[in-house]
Amino acid sequence: MKNILEILSEELVKAFEKAGYDTEFAKASVSNRPDLCQFQCNGAMALAKKYKKAPIMIANEVKDAIVSEYICDLEAVAPGFLNFNINGEKLAEYLADMAAAEDYGINKEKNKKKIVIDYGGPNVAKPLHVGHLRSAIIGESVKRICRFMNNEVIGDIHLGDWGLQMGLIITELKLRQPDLPYFDDNFTGEYPEEAPFTISELEEIYPTASKKTKETEADGKTLTQAAVEYKAAAMEATFKLQNGDRGYRAIWNHIMSVSVADLKKNYKTLNVDFDWWKGESDVQDDIAPMVEEMKKAGFAYESEGALVVDVARETDTKEVPPCMILKSDGAALYTTTDLATLKQRRSIFDPDRVIYVVDKRQEMHFTQVFRCAEKTGVVKDGMELDFIGFGTMNGKDGKPFKTRDGGVMRLEHLLKDIQEEMFKKITGNHDIDPDEAKEISEIVGLAAVKYGDLSNQATKDYIFDIDKFTSFEGNTGPYILYTIVRIKSILNKFKEMGGADNTKLLPAATATEKALSLELTKLHTMMSQAYTELAPHKICAYIYDVANVFNSFYHENKILKEEDKARQESFIELLKITKGVLELCIDLLGFSAPEHM
Ligand code: ARG
Repeated sequence: MKNILEILSEELVKAFEKAGYDTEFAKASVSNRPDLCQFQCNGAMALAKKYKKAPIMIANEVKDAIVSEYICDLEAVAPGFLNFNINGEKLAEYLADMAAAEDYGINKEKNKKKIVIDYGGPNVAKPLHVGHLRSAIIGESVKRICRFMNNEVIGDIHLGDWGLQMGLIITELKLRQPDLPYFDDNFTGEYPEEAPFTISELEEIYPTASKKTKETEADGKTLTQAAVEYKAAAMEATFKLQNGDRGYRAIWNHIMSVSVADLKKNYKTLNVDFDWWKGESDVQDDIAPMVEEMKKAGFAYESEGALVVDVARETDTKEVPPCMILKSDGAALYTTTDLATLKQRRSIFDPDRVIYVVDKRQEMHFTQVFRCAEKTGVVKDGMELDFIGFGTMNGKDGKPFKTRDGGVMRLEHLLKDIQEEMFKKITGNHDIDPDEAKEISEIVGLAAVKYGDLSNQATKDYIFDIDKFTSFEGNTGPYILYTIVRIKSILNKFKEMGGADNTKLLPAATATEKALSLELTKLHTMMSQAYTELAPHKICAYIYDVANVFNSFYHENKILKEEDKARQESFIELLKITKGVLELCIDLLGFSAPEHM
């Protein structure tokens, strides 16, 4: 449906026309002096030059010309503003239409697109850490927003499952259990179905192996002979794996099944879910033919032994180095897999748009990949490639978030810390069954983490502050959920009191009621911005405003004690819409509200 500003602007257009003025600037905007009026129009100021007239004169003429059911209290104010309010009945009518429409009448995408969202991006066999948290949280929200707007969306986790970490694990495993059949070249039987390690062993194997490749002599710089040899062995193992060694491939399958099961569990607790569980390994067979094509078409050429494609542009202000396709030893790189993945996505799904949600430090990588893909025809003409680069999640010291002893914080531990903090708060507030409190702290804890992240513009670094994020006051997830729970509880009580099911809005009577009604009508404009800019933080800012305005309304009106039945029902109706709008928004952010708190 039309948003409220469009409706008001149409009314202004009629008045400008009637007064004999160009209507180009007859636009309503939300007032930046809400103490004076709800809306304003600055059109008279913009027209002054053209008509060689004082803006206040124009404003006054428009004011005299206005005949509108929507616009009231119109004033022309020096130097030429038009200040006005919306008619209370019309506002109530608009809200009622919103409530009756599907998804509150939000206008969806007319040119429905096929979109792939590449997010999550964990590296198999390495524990999920907070660095992957942002990609998961932001990506999930962007996916939900795009899907809500009617697009056909695929979320792809794009696992890092083909790199050196696999060779490291194989090397360490061989050292520990050399008798396993995977290492016996003469073994021709069936390999065991059971993996030779558990997830916790696997998570210990990788860091141990990785540390062994970094051991230095007493000078702290030169790698030890053992480290050099270990790394060489790991590289050889990686090479053998990538070239189809049967035993290594079987170990790789074990690593994958053990890790993926664990990843699925972790993402589930985050309420993040993927449609595709593809990874770098899935495109290995596509690399050679792709490289061949790039060579044949003359895009890829040899430079210092490596194979590269030029992607610099004359307009570049910063150097964009050539995109490397193969290293001098013939090995494929991160760029190569990303290009081949784009090609594969095209053949499977043929997307109109691919959106990557990755650490902003990878921006140059994606600039190179996007340009190379466009230049070499890996993607079809006109396909959109977007990079949402996010900033770092820092600790209170302003440095990347670590555990207390300086280690890499595991995602599970971080969530657990938050949930424990929530549990303390919830059980401290009132008597509650511990099981129920635990369940609630999980829901609220997740909202605390997600909202804490999403309420910041993605590109910015932010400070992960448990005390702040778990607070029930201020711009936090728990505050938003608390507001929803408060509404739910009033609605339940109203029902218990025998209140009607069918409630109807009356024109708002009090200031806070008006303010809340008005705030709710801003949903449409906000949503279209959040979608165009792929900016979940806009949704957060909006629901924070809604929650604040609602809470003022709540404190100023005795909803359940209201004696005028019709007025009470109107309050209840307003509550229902507020709840629905908040719930829709938090769902797009990727969390939900409990029944109690
Ligand atoms: N696995 C990568 C990392 O941890 C992130 C993958 C992002 N997606 C992509 N298509 N490159 O850095």
